Amino acid sequence: MFQRFRRTRLNGHLRSLVRETSVSVNDFIYPLFVRSGEGIKTEISSMPGVFQMSIDEVLKECEELKKLGLYAIILFGIPDVKDSIGSDSLCEHGIIAKAIRAIKKAHPEMFVVTDLCFCEYTDHGHCGIIDTKTQSVNNDATLEISAKQAIVHAKAGADMIAPSGMMDGIIQTLREALDGAGYVNLPIMSYSTKFASGYYGPFRDVAESAPSFGDRASYQMDPANRREAIAESISDERQGADILMVKPALAYLDIVREIKDNSSLPLAVYNVSGEYAMLKFAGMNNLIDYNRVVMETMISFKRAGADIIISYHAKEVAKLLQKQS
Ligand code: PBG
Ligand code: ZN
Repeated sequence: MFQRFRRTRLNGHLRSLVRETSVSVNDFIYPLFVRSGEGIKTEISSMPGVFQMSIDEVLKECEELKKLGLYAIILFGIPDVKDSIGSDSLCEHGIIAKAIRAIKKAHPEMFVVTDLCFCEYTDHGHCGIIDTKTQSVNNDATLEISAKQAIVHAKAGADMIAPSGMMDGIIQTLREALDGAGYVNLPIMSYSTKFASGYYGPFRDVAESAPSFGDRASYQMDPANRREAIAESISDERQGADILMVKPALAYLDIVREIKDNSSLPLAVYNVSGEYAMLKFAGMNNLIDYNRVVMETMISFKRAGADIIISYHAKEVAKLLQKQS
């Protein structure tokens, strides 16, 4: 006897009853880019539909997000002044600290995640402090100021800290610093498996954070290494991470599945800027059925094992889901 698949019998509502994977608005975290000023909402040419916004505009945006059922955001700051150590990110009057306070005041029900890194705040565009002798990032010096940045976020009212620089030992350092300052219940979502990827190109336009020399290969991972990718995430689990992440998402779904099967922690994927731009521009040129491909892509993340999807598509997906129901 051959195995017969009963696709024709599983039609109508039965199809949704037996569907293995689903996408919900609750799966998403929406990235926002904040800068100083008032009434500023500047679209990024490499990412149509994505904007740099001043805080007042971000507050309006949160209103819209809530209407769509999207309550989780991740914040990136674009400071007025950049310097060698990213001072703006270490000060209570910096752009991110101000944005967190304003959002939590106006919209206390929003869940505010903060990206913790230095590339957006340093004049050299690297994710930490540069050792002038070696012209590369000094891991341990960066750990020290990362702890400072985490406390700034925590004091301002962040709901979760997401370190994205992939420095060695960052999770343990932040956990100890947060616990020591009394923030024992503040969760850490680690960018635990982050590849040195060409897919971050458009983000560096939005965040104005392209490195002025060299690349990030000394602290981000080689796309060819699967075992190392798993080990990095497992190491962050041991150090006390609450949520793990794979970034980028699409080209790394095998890694998503493998981490999911090897850790009991919730797992996020970052559907990055280059992935967004590819679909966006293909859709704008009528090369693909955009909405259909977006939903197919989101399902693939869930099917691979992601619990959380960080995506610039989140608003579009929320609108599509509203239409479907
Ligand atoms: C900061 C950071 C980056 C992204 C998220 N956090 C840029 C980078 O590592 O170069 C990329 C997100 C995207 O491409 O959408 N370290
Ligand atoms: Zn960085």
